[in-house]
Amino acid sequence: MELTISNLNKVYIRRERKMSIKGIGRPEIIKKSALEDVSFTLSEGLYGLLGPNGAGKSTLMKIVAGILRPDAGKVLWNGHEILKLGKNYRRILGFMPQQQGLYSGFTGRRFLDYMCVLKEITSEETKSEINRVADQVHLLPELGKRLENYSGGMKQRILLASALLGDPKLLILDEPTAGLDPRERVSLRLQLKELSKDRIILVATHVVSDVETVADEILVLKEGHLVERGSVDELKERFHHASSIEAIYLQLFGEPVDV
Ligand SMILES: Nc1ncnc2c1ncn2[C@@H]1O[C@H](COP(=O)(O)OP(=O)(O)OP(=O)(O)O)[C@@H](O)[C@H]1O
Ligand SMILES: [Mg+2]
Repeated sequence: MELTISNLNKVYIRRERKMSIKGIGRPEIIKKSALEDVSFTLSEGLYGLLGPNGAGKSTLMKIVAGILRPDAGKVLWNGHEILKLGKNYRRILGFMPQQQGLYSGFTGRRFLDYMCVLKEITSEETKSEINRVADQVHLLPELGKRLENYSGGMKQRILLASALLGDPKLLILDEPTAGLDPRERVSLRLQLKELSKDRIILVATHVVSDVETVADEILVLKEGHLVERGSVDELKERFHHASSIEAIYLQLFGEPVDV
């Protein structure tokens, strides 16, 4: 099992009208380079992706999930380009995006049922799959409720459950613990560790403790570049025997501003 990211580049282009005293100016084209020549290969294991706001984590994850096209570079699953794998990739991949509009009128079960259709999970498998993933995120008793009545953490967990449908071999999770209470956060951490034995899991997070004790390796993005990669122990040694990943993060990105 191998995920190869090869020389990815992504530039976002947007038009913006600048306001001035004279009124609204001519539209300007603004280019923002979000990823620059990012390459790495992952095999089975749990990988933590760290980096400040705007570093390019979500851009990278969307490209790996096949929902955003890079300007250059490739993503390969076991040597095959994901864009050519087409719908076969849908069974391999479980993706939890950072932000997603939920179908609020749906019940939890209806939402997961719909996601099973998108993933082309057979109707015979659907019920047991839904129950399995809902149980995993402790939402089984809540599946009859409408999503609009879910708490923030419950919404997050149903998205996670949907990423787990079909037992995908590649899990891409963009800030999965945002809004989770400590008990659910610890539970998720342990589950991901267990799941990573026979699959590839890439988790973007700002909560260093989510990955520090369980990740096989940490990858660090800075302004669109992959600047560090290694096990927690390797990184600690590389960074003058830093005491923690948080201390390394501060060495890379600066100390907090005094208050
Ligand atoms: N749709 C878009 N259009 C224009 N610029 C974008 C778009 N999406 C992201 N960007 C820009 O690309 C850069 C990388 O954004 P990205 O969302 O990948 O960062 P991130 O590391 O996920 O940040 P965060 O930690 O805040 O989630 C940022 O400068 C952002 O402003
Ligand atoms: Mg993001």
